[in-house]
Order: sequence, then C-alpha cells, then structure tokens
Amino acid sequence: MNAGVPAVPPLSRRAESLGTENAFVVLAEVNALARHGRDIVSFCIGQPDFPTPANVQEAGIAAIRTGRHGYTPSAGIDELRAAAAKDIGARRGLAVDPDEVVVASGAKPFIAYTIASVTDHGAGDEVIYPVPGFPIYESQILANGAVPVPLFLRESRGFAFDPAELAAKIGPKTRLLILNTPHNPTGGLLSGGDLDAIAAVLAKHPQVWIFADEIYSRLAYDGAFESIATRPGMRERTILCDGASKTWAMTGWRIGYAANRALAPVFTRWITNTESCASQISQWAAVEAINGPQDGAEAMRAKFLERRELIVRLLDGVPGVRCRMPGGAFYAWPNVTEACRMTGCADSEEFRKRLLHEAGVAVLADIHFGRRVPGDGQHIRFSYATSNESIERGIARVADFVKRCTR
Ligand SMILES: Cc1ncc(COP(=O)(O)O)c(C=O)c1O
Repeated sequence: MNAGVPAVPPLSRRAESLGTENAFVVLAEVNALARHGRDIVSFCIGQPDFPTPANVQEAGIAAIRTGRHGYTPSAGIDELRAAAAKDIGARRGLAVDPDEVVVASGAKPFIAYTIASVTDHGAGDEVIYPVPGFPIYESQILANGAVPVPLFLRESRGFAFDPAELAAKIGPKTRLLILNTPHNPTGGLLSGGDLDAIAAVLAKHPQVWIFADEIYSRLAYDGAFESIATRPGMRERTILCDGASKTWAMTGWRIGYAANRALAPVFTRWITNTESCASQISQWAAVEAINGPQDGAEAMRAKFLERRELIVRLLDGVPGVRCRMPGGAFYAWPNVTEACRMTGCADSEEFRKRLLHEAGVAVLADIHFGRRVPGDGQHIRFSYATSNESIERGIARVADFVKRCTR
C-alpha cells in the first residue's frame, strides 16, 4: 500500500462536521482521574442527582412484568401522548391535542429531527441559535448542512439576548430560530417582555420556525415560566419540546416529547427511520411520572432552589469571581475574568484545567458551549445538581486555589 493512502475509506463531510457535547468528554477525563484515586468534586454533568421517584420506578418494573416491553407506535403510546399533551398544555396555559405530540428517546433527538425537517443541505438555509448554548444545536446545524447564525446572550441582560440583535440577524434565508428557556448553561430565563419583543420580530418573518427547547420548564425559580408559543401567531410555528429527564430525574430512561401539529407526522417518520420508538418500559414510567403524585418532583425542585442560593453566595465570596443569580435550570455561570487574571490563566479553559488538576474541581468552560461572547469575558459552568456538602467542599477548593495561585 502507498504511504499516505488512508487505511480506511474516507468519511462524509457530514460525519466530519458533527460536533460533540464536551460535558461527556470532560466527564471521561474526571472518571479517569477518579480511577487513579484522585478525589474530584464534580460540577460537570447536567442531570439531577436524585433517584427517579419510587412510584415511577415501580411503573417501569410493572411494565416489564406485565409484558409491556415490545415496540410501540413510532409516535408513542396513546397514554403517554395524552399525558404529555396535558402536561405541556397545563404548564404553558395552552390547549394541546394528543395528536400533536410525538414521543422520542429523550428531547435531544428532536433537535436533529427539527433541523433536518426545516432546512435543506447546502441550500444556505440559516438557523439562529443561542450562544453560549447547548452544543448539540450548532453541531446538528453543521451536520445538516445549514448555516449557523449565533445569537449572543449577554451577562448585562441576565443572559437573555437582545431582540434588536435578533432583528438584525433574521432574514429571508432564516428557516429556524432555536430558543432555550430556562437556559443551559447560564440559567437565564426569557422574560415576558423579551417574548413579546421576539414575537414582534418573528411576525415579520413568517417563513421561520421556532424550536422552543423547554426541557427545564419546571425549574424556573424567578417568576412564572412562559413559552413563546403563548404569543399571538406563534403557536402553529413553534415546536414545543420538553421531557422527563430533568423534571423527574429520568435522564437514563430516555423520554422526551415535542408538540407541533404540522411536524408531528414528520417527526413520527423520522422516528420510524431511526429509533423505531422510545422504550415502551420507559414510556409507561413516564405516564406515571406525569399523571402520578408530584411530591418527588416538587422536593427536587425545592432542593435545587436551596442549592442555587448556596452556590451563588459561595461563588460570590471567591476572589475574582462574580456570579449572577440564575433564574432557572440547575446551572451557575460565574464570570471568572478577574480570577483568570489573578492566577495567570490565559482564559477560562486554562482556568478549568487547572481547577481540575490542581484543585480537584471539575467544571466546564464557556468554550464548551460555543464561541465566547465578544466583550463578555470568561465564564465557567457549575451544575449544582449535587449535594450541599459537595457544593461547600468544591467552592472552598476553588477559593483556596485562587488565593494560593494569585501572583
Ligand atoms: C438545553 C437542553 N436541551 C435538551 C437536552 C436533552 O435532554 P434529554 O435528556 O431529554 O435528551 C438537554 C440535556 O442536557 C439540555 O440541557
């Protein structure tokens, strides 16, 4: 064989352009250090640290024991579509029909299904999405051959974007706007006023779909959660996406759902072509999660609220760090520009690596959520889905690191 000839046939440009979710990469690094006996306090992973509520676990076990573990219709079992429709509707003050709802293996697949359903590869179709933001948005936009148009979230606006920036970036080539509230990684919420302003911009661009990633809808703490779909003219154009992962501590059960009348049959076909259906066992568990007692979910929410106060107070006490109070989800997104300067770190990524290796604290850096927002400095992400004791221990280590390493 000639030197330089690849040992395997080439991959597609699509495969080459597919990104990843760095939380999983950092987590592998953390696990490797832990295997070598290092004591790491991890704030990396965005999943509740509680067990799935017992009644929900029992429903999954009962499904297995009663033989309800085969394929289901691709759109999901009727019972879950009805429960999800009721839940999506009730939380947003909308009437949602079960026919509009499709169930998949998590909320995540709907990001890909939506982008693939409303943009054409290589046609110059643009997708506007939040930066910083969930990394799968940009990854799927690129892999689907669409054009990513970042919308910057500003610290000065409580990590909402400026609707004037949306108005400047939206145009005839825009096919999709991705919104995420409450937001990963900043914990920011879109206010009612912002939603009015966004709807006013969108009213002038009827060719644009809206993907409303509302997976943290139950975890809004400051003021009521509101959806763009409640604004006049927005409902039909909005894909409402929510799921069981964050609300009922069901990340590994893989249940998400999306509601949109026009796209429901298209999503169903995607599912037939890919996963066939979500796990029937998990679907029955999700029916119980939605329809059964909510005390487990409420207790988790109360805990997150308590931890939010704790982590923000402690972070604000670290030299060179200042942290805004996040409005929702379970993430804190402190500004560490000054702490980087004090410790001689070139940027948030170097700060993150040194925290991991020199202080035994695992976090993610802003660059894991897209390019840095121009003029907004350096940030790192803490997931506070961990115990009070870990929060206290972890932030004490961060404070100690900054004090010890200040030049
Ligand atoms: C903003 C956002 N959207 C979607 C998801 C995916 O959730 P699921 O577990 O339902 O696929 C996550 C999970 O971290 C998320 O943070």
